[in-house]
Order: sequence, then C-alpha cells, then structure tokens
Amino acid sequence: MRARLGDRSLFSRLEVPIYLDHAAVSPASDPVLEAMTDAMQAGARLGIGAMHSWLEGSERARSNVASLLGVPSEEVALTGNTSQGVTAVARGLDWQPGDRIVLFRGEFPANVTPWLLAASDFGLEVRWAEAEAFRLDPEAALAELEPLLEGARLVAVSAVQFQTGFAMPLEAIGQACRRHGAELFVDAIQGLGLLPLSADLPIDYLAAGGHKWLMGPLGTGILWARPERWTELRPHHASWLSHQDGLSFLMEGEGLLRYDRPLRTGPASIEGGVANATGHAALAASVGLLLELGLPAIEEHVGRWVDALELGLLERGFTSARVAHGRSGILSVKPAEGDVLGLAGHLRERGASVSTPDGWLRFAPHWPNALDEVPTLLDAIDRG
Ligand SMILES: Cc1ncc(COP(=O)(O)O)c(C=O)c1O
Repeated sequence: MRARLGDRSLFSRLEVPIYLDHAAVSPASDPVLEAMTDAMQAGARLGIGAMHSWLEGSERARSNVASLLGVPSEEVALTGNTSQGVTAVARGLDWQPGDRIVLFRGEFPANVTPWLLAASDFGLEVRWAEAEAFRLDPEAALAELEPLLEGARLVAVSAVQFQTGFAMPLEAIGQACRRHGAELFVDAIQGLGLLPLSADLPIDYLAAGGHKWLMGPLGTGILWARPERWTELRPHHASWLSHQDGLSFLMEGEGLLRYDRPLRTGPASIEGGVANATGHAALAASVGLLLELGLPAIEEHVGRWVDALELGLLERGFTSARVAHGRSGILSVKPAEGDVLGLAGHLRERGASVSTPDGWLRFAPHWPNALDEVPTLLDAIDRG
C-alpha cells in the first residue's frame, strides 16, 4: 500500500480517532513497525549475523535524512535524540574562555541546557534574545539581535518554537550571523519532516530527533554539520568505532588490537559505539514515506488542514499564535474564555489527541490527517 496525503490507512493500529500530536510524538505507521520488527527478528534469528542488515538499515536512515536536507550522507551523523546533537557541538567546539554565545528565551530546554552547561564549564559569556519578539515584530527583533551578535561565536535557535509553532526567520538570522562571523546552530526537531530545511540556509549545524515530524521512533536523531564544521569539532563522543580500521582487531586476526589508530573525522567522530539499528531501520522507513510524498506536497496539505481549523477557531473567538511570516505545521490557540487545560481534556475525551505546551492549546497534524477531521473538531468545541 502506498502513502497518500490525508489517508491514515498505513496507521492501521492507531486507536486515537483524531491524532494531532505530531509535535510531541508521532504514532508508528505500519511500515515503521514492520521495519523495526524485521530488524529485531533478524537479531532473534541470527544474532551477530544480523549485523550486515542492521548496518544497512542505519545507512538507509542516514541517506534518507540526507536527501530531506539536500546534503551528502557523509555530512549526517545518527544520534539518539536532539539533545545528543546539541551536546556534541556544545562540548565539541574548541571554546576559549569569554567566547560569547547567544541563546533565546522561550526555547525548549533541549536547546538551552547543554549550552548553559558548556558556558559554565568553558567560561563562556551568554547573551539572551527573545524568541517571541520574532513572532510579534520580526524587523524590530532582528534589529535588537544585531548588537548581541557583535563578537559572538555561536547562536543557537530552534527552527520552530515548540509552543507557538512560530517558524523562526532562519535565513535572516543566519545572514546576520554571517555578517558578524558567528556560527548558527539550529534545533530542527519541530520542522524537519515538513518544512524545507536545507543546507541552502545560512546555517552551520542542524540537530533533530526522529520521533516528531520525521515520524520515526523514540531514541533516534540526527546531527548535520557543514564539512568544515565537522573538522572543527573535538571528537567528544568518539570511542572504539570512531577509529580508522577500528574493526580490524575483531575480524582480521591477531596483533591488531591498538588504541592509537587515528580517529575518523566527521559524523564518525560522534558515533562512538554500536548504534540503535532497529530504531534506524524504522526511521529509514518513516523518512522514506516523507520522501515518497514529497515535503512540498505534505506542507501544502498540512497548511490547508491548519488554515481550515484556524478559520473555524477564529470565528469562535479564539486567538491564534500563527502568523503569516512564520508558519509551520503547528497551530497554537487560546480560547476567548475558559481554561486551556479544561478544553484540551474535553477534546481528548472526544477522541482528539492535543497538547498544551506553556499554556497554549496545540494542534499538530501531519500528512495522514484528513481535512474532514476539522468539522468534527469544531463540532466537539461547540458542544463543549
Ligand atoms: C524544540 C525542541 N527541541 C527538542 C525537543 C526534544 O529533545 P530530544 O529529542 O533531545 O528529546 C523538543 C520536544 O520534545 C522540542 O520541542
């Protein structure tokens, strides 16, 4: 069966009638479940004999994600989650005491905590910008960012803010960073798999987890960096599999066990031990479906779904966080009256899976969501 926009037949086990929590955790489609089960079964049947097919699964995940990003596979590392990618850079750069980093208030903590730890361990100076200011008045926010960038070494920002769904102006922020010689790190977990995030943007690093818009399993993720950035990173996570010819002592006879083999640079420098091969097989399958459907078509479909719900909610007096200058797959709203938590509970009772991050009522549909879910949701709200 092929994937079709607005058709959840490939999610045959999904029990939630209207699933709108792709910004939290995507449900597993049948191909994802099958890919993971196949990889587990290969291990059950063959043990170490499954290694070849496991490695193939990991390489498929890497190359599928690389296709989404429009980069060569060799520039993509497979990680366990977003945080691991953030940490690899936060602890891998050759920091000098007093180096300045710029962080954003309002960001999800995964793109703040590792930087603050690095700041305290390496003596970095932290400057704060306001993520919300970019949603409310992007030109003023960019003007306020400029002085923070003077002398800055790195800026860390999310592609899409987790609570409002606001897609940050990465092009403009990246251009400003380049003017000031600062590197730009992007936490892309709330956009990758829907928005056209690619190496064409003026960004240096991009990290994401697999379980939201990429629709893969928990415990998978990626870190992309430009080739020249990879060479600058200290191999902080390096281990036995990071060495050149690191496997020879296991396969090629006696006397080859050594600890001084040079470390490989690039993604291998942070992929130190055996990988989450079953997770990667599943991630390869979920991203394979995204590639099959095509991100522009998915983005248009999700946009139509969100437009329809937003219109209905505005007519009912809701306030929407969505703005024309930064749309994503997330629609976050607040009702004119009544509490958000109560309303979310009401919707869940009526079969809609929604979230309430930081006090917003968040809807996050993806390619399997059908447009006819919208009137059902509005009806559930009217009956509230
Ligand atoms: C912007 C953002 N970054 C990161 C994460 C999660 O980080 P990790 O993949 O490390 O669990 C989330 C949500 O869980 C998020 O919304």
